[in-house]
Amino acid sequence: MIVVKDVSYTYMTGTPFEKIALKKISFDVAQGEVLAIAGHTGSGKSTLIQIIAGLIKLQSGSIEIDGLSVDDKKIRRLVGIVFQYPEHQLFEETVESDIAFAPKNFGLSEAEVSARVDEAMRQVGLDESLKKVSPFELSGGQRRRAAIAGILALKPKYLILDEPTAGLDPPAKEHLLKEIFGAIKISGVTIILVSHNMEDIARFANRVVVLAQGEIIFIGTPRELFAEEKILARAGLEPPPVTQLLRTLKLNESALTLDEAERILTTNH
Ligand SMILES: Nc1ncnc2c1ncn2[C@@H]1O[C@H](COP(=O)(O)OP(=O)(O)OP(=O)(O)O)[C@@H](O)[C@H]1O
Ligand SMILES: [Mg+2]
Repeated sequence: MIVVKDVSYTYMTGTPFEKIALKKISFDVAQGEVLAIAGHTGSGKSTLIQIIAGLIKLQSGSIEIDGLSVDDKKIRRLVGIVFQYPEHQLFEETVESDIAFAPKNFGLSEAEVSARVDEAMRQVGLDESLKKVSPFELSGGQRRRAAIAGILALKPKYLILDEPTAGLDPPAKEHLLKEIFGAIKISGVTIILVSHNMEDIARFANRVVVLAQGEIIFIGTPRELFAEEKILARAGLEPPPVTQLLRTLKLNESALTLDEAERILTTNH
C-alpha cells in the first residue's frame, strides 16, 4: 500500500522562478488497484509520481510504501517508473540487452535475468525473434513496449506509468494497453497511471485522482468523476465520447465503455 500524506513541492525555492507544483497532496493506493492521475498540463502529475518513485526528494509531508519511507533506498526495488516517451532512453545494441540492463544492475544471476527478459517480452507482447534486433529497427509501438519491458523485468510491486500511450497510433495504443493491463493486472501489480485519456481511465482505472494547479480537486471512481461536470471543466477533461453520446440520447443509464453502451442500447431497444 502507498500512503501519500500532505505532500507539497516547490521548484526553485527562493529564486524569481519559484514554482509551487504540489500543495498538501494526500491519498492512498490500495494493493492491486489501478489508480489514475489526471489533470491539465502543468497540474503536477509528473512531479507527484517522481516523488513517489523516490526520484525527486520529498520536501514536506510523507510517503510510505509498504510501511517504508520513500527516502529509504529499499523502495527502489518495489517501485518501477516508466517515463513519458520511455523509448528515448533505449540505448543498448539489442532489445534483449536493453531489457536486461536494469535487472543486471540489481545483481541477479544471468539465468534469472534471461528468464525475466523472456517473461517481460511476453507480458508486453513482443515476439522472441526481436531479441537480437537493435531497438532502433523496431516500430514506434514496439520500441515503447521494449522500454516498458525493461521496467517490468525488475518485477516491481508498484508500477507507475506516465502517459504510456502518448504519441502512439490507435492500434498500437490499443495493443499496448491490452497487454499491459491484461497480463500485468493478473500478476497483482499495483498501477499508478498518469493519463489525459478519459477512455483509458474509464476502462482500466479503479479510481482517479484529479489535480488542478498542484491540488487534488477530486478522488473517486471514473463513474463518479464523469458525473461531476464542474470538476471536469476545471481540470479541462471530458468524459469519454460514448458517455457523452448516451447522455445526449437522454438514456437514464450512463455508460463508460463501448461494451457497457452496447449492453444498455440492446436491452433498451
Ligand atoms: N524542473 C522544473 N523546474 C521548475 N519548474 C518545474 C520543473 N518541472 C516542472 N515544473 C513546473 O511545475 C509544475 C508542474 O509540472 P509537472 O511536470 O509536474 O506537470 P504535469 O501535470 O506532469 O504536466 P504535463 O501534463 O504537461 O506532463 C508546472 O508548472 C511546471 O512548469
Ligand atoms: Mg507530466
